[in-house]
Amino acid sequence: MNVAESPMVQIATIAESMPGSLKLCYGESDMPTPDFICQAAHEAILAGHTFYTHTAGYPALREAIANKVFELHQVRYAPAEIMATVGATMAIYAAIRALVGRGDNAIVISPAYAIFSNGVIMAGGEPRPVPLARRGHGFALDLDRVRAAIDRNTRLLIVNSPSNPTGWMITENEQRALVEIADRHDLVLLADEVYERLVYDDEVEGSSPRAVAPSFARVETTRDRLIVVNSFSKTYNMTGWRLGWAQASAGTIKTMYRAAEFMTSNPAAMVQQAGIVALRDGERYIAELRDHYAQRRTQVMSALQAIPGVALPAPQGAFYAFPRIDAASDSTAFTAALVRKTGVALAPGVGFGSDGEGYIRVCFASTEATIAEALSRLRNFVMSGGS
Ligand SMILES: Cc1ncc(COP(=O)(O)O)c(C=O)c1O
Repeated sequence: MNVAESPMVQIATIAESMPGSLKLCYGESDMPTPDFICQAAHEAILAGHTFYTHTAGYPALREAIANKVFELHQVRYAPAEIMATVGATMAIYAAIRALVGRGDNAIVISPAYAIFSNGVIMAGGEPRPVPLARRGHGFALDLDRVRAAIDRNTRLLIVNSPSNPTGWMITENEQRALVEIADRHDLVLLADEVYERLVYDDEVEGSSPRAVAPSFARVETTRDRLIVVNSFSKTYNMTGWRLGWAQASAGTIKTMYRAAEFMTSNPAAMVQQAGIVALRDGERYIAELRDHYAQRRTQVMSALQAIPGVALPAPQGAFYAFPRIDAASDSTAFTAALVRKTGVALAPGVGFGSDGEGYIRVCFASTEATIAEALSRLRNFVMSGGS
């Protein structure tokens, strides 16, 4: 298969072999799943939730997801328009498999998590990365570049906002523009919104309890052209549980779960039950989590901005800082030398496509002390020449 090993694996392998290394290279928090969710899974097992479920998940979970989407975005989905999946990963793959075949291509707003391009390649298609432009202190969508990349074989337009790795968050106007482009060219939009609850606002002290990124669901013109994927992984620190979902038209959902039936089948029954409880009781936890990340974001931004030769676009969402570093024009060599010399593991930007070269990704879902130590070592490394 034509899927290359990620340069991230190289850095992670070095870090894992070094006791005491500081690993800010992964896309997850170092906090465990909260107790109320673990308790719910335990109770679900004892209550007999140990069998297969419908491939698309328990009806009660699909309904709970639909209710949460309505609560957050005031958009109604029927349970038949929701499918629970083995992480957003499975939702993304099932969506790509349903829509992309040999000879087709898919636009991927980049830099982006490698899952999208690799999913398209595994489906026999061609990924077409379209880079975000740098504007002021952040990234912005370049609609002309998007239009220029589309041809008659384009089937899918893939957008992840808030973005891993850049922290960029799409505006509602940009969403409307993409929906219009999708309508004009008969494309489907695949919107990865797994970081929708992790958004920060520089103007607001702290964070409002229901802060949420704009969803494409709010601006769709026809449900046949939109697949939204989401996940429990980042919102509830449930990465290892493997639970996510897709929202689309009932017809698209059916096509997707028919494919999932022969790949993963349903997500684990007790995990789905825990997911219902997470959706029901998790709002206070999410608000606390966002407050914690907001503080870490401030810490990371001021530490990075104080290093000469480092330019940091302000992350608006997710839990990553994505600075451009003069000394990291070869980001794989830079991060490999950094981890070997200092024990600090960061992700090379090129792991998110060639548009990410020259950047590195710092995950700030960690403790204040770990981040302070890691960034102090990064500073010394850069000041001493960065190799
Ligand atoms: C943008 C994005 N989408 C999807 C995923 C996968 O999430 P899940 O754990 O739900 O499969 C990740 C994980 O890092 C991610 O960053």
